[in-house]
Amino acid sequence: MKLPTRHFPAVLLLAAVLPAQAAVNFRTQLWPIFAKNCVDCHRAPYKDPAGKVIEPKGRLRLDGAGHIMKGGSDGDAVTAGDPDKSSIYARILLPPDHEDVMPPKGKGKLLSFDESELIKQWIIEGANFGDWVGAADGTGAVAVKKVTKAVDPLAAGAGPAPAAAQDAIRKLGALVTPIMTDSPLLRVEWISGASAVSDKEVAQLTSIGGNIAELDLSDTKITDEALATIGKYPRLNWLNLANTAVTDAGIAHLKGLTHLSWLNLHSTNVSDSSLAILTPLRKLRQVYLWKTRVTPGEATKFAKTIPDLKVTLD
Ligand code: HEC
Repeated sequence: MKLPTRHFPAVLLLAAVLPAQAAVNFRTQLWPIFAKNCVDCHRAPYKDPAGKVIEPKGRLRLDGAGHIMKGGSDGDAVTAGDPDKSSIYARILLPPDHEDVMPPKGKGKLLSFDESELIKQWIIEGANFGDWVGAADGTGAVAVKKVTKAVDPLAAGAGPAPAAAQDAIRKLGALVTPIMTDSPLLRVEWISGASAVSDKEVAQLTSIGGNIAELDLSDTKITDEALATIGKYPRLNWLNLANTAVTDAGIAHLKGLTHLSWLNLHSTNVSDSSLAILTPLRKLRQVYLWKTRVTPGEATKFAKTIPDLKVTLD
């Protein structure tokens, strides 16, 4: 059995050693890419030398923020937060001889890897145009996002965690990283030295408790007492308690964590009575219960109480 760990992108690991990366700036980083590679075919209608009106291809204009968000004949070209559902990104990734690739086959140079990554990152960050507007004619009431934060409902209402508080926690040996570029939400974990971490260290996390979305306390010395604090983090969504001394009494403190979607309890002392506590947490999607006192019959019943919940017992 492989321990259920989470694979997170290398970029998050890098974030720990590099200064926080700035969000993609549409005006200075993306507009030049679109202007050079796309806008010839995706701009306002114009007359060719013979006087014929040339419409934007696919009815998609890429020369203004409102036009980009309005989309083309196939609908939306950008779905903020979801590059795969954004045709301006999906189409540039197609194989060079695909009939839908952009720019079309033989009609321009494919974008470089770095250019397409920038577009992807911009979409992930919420498709924010910043101070760039571009052509604004005829876009009507199309909403253009100007927020500077990534679109993440979990982050709603969260201000940035005070830098001094974050530093104090780093001094405890923890790795504290934003879950996404510019997100106020944090991931806290101990990459090394976990076995020295106790309830005392966890108590100090309270100063940034409102910002912690992901917390890895696996292989630490924590007890149920730590869970009394953790149960008050309003945005906690991912929690790893594997291989710790927590019991059902500790799990009882987690009953207010309505955003919790991923929970690892493998190699702990929890039993069937923890499942009743977790059942009201409707956002749970994955719970690991390997090497616990939970019985297979109750685990199966529990998995059926929440839609799309996956329970792993072995
Ligand atoms: C030489 C002209 C040309 C260039 C340059 C070009 N496109 Fe297109 N584009 C087209 C044509 C023609 C269509 C409509 C046919 C189709 O859907 O494949 C289209 C359609 C699209 C669509 C689908 C619009 C819809 O809703 O139907 C997207 C998205 C798109 N292009 C993005 C881009 C991007 C991003 C670039 C620059 C990287 C680009 N295009 C460069 C000609 C071009």
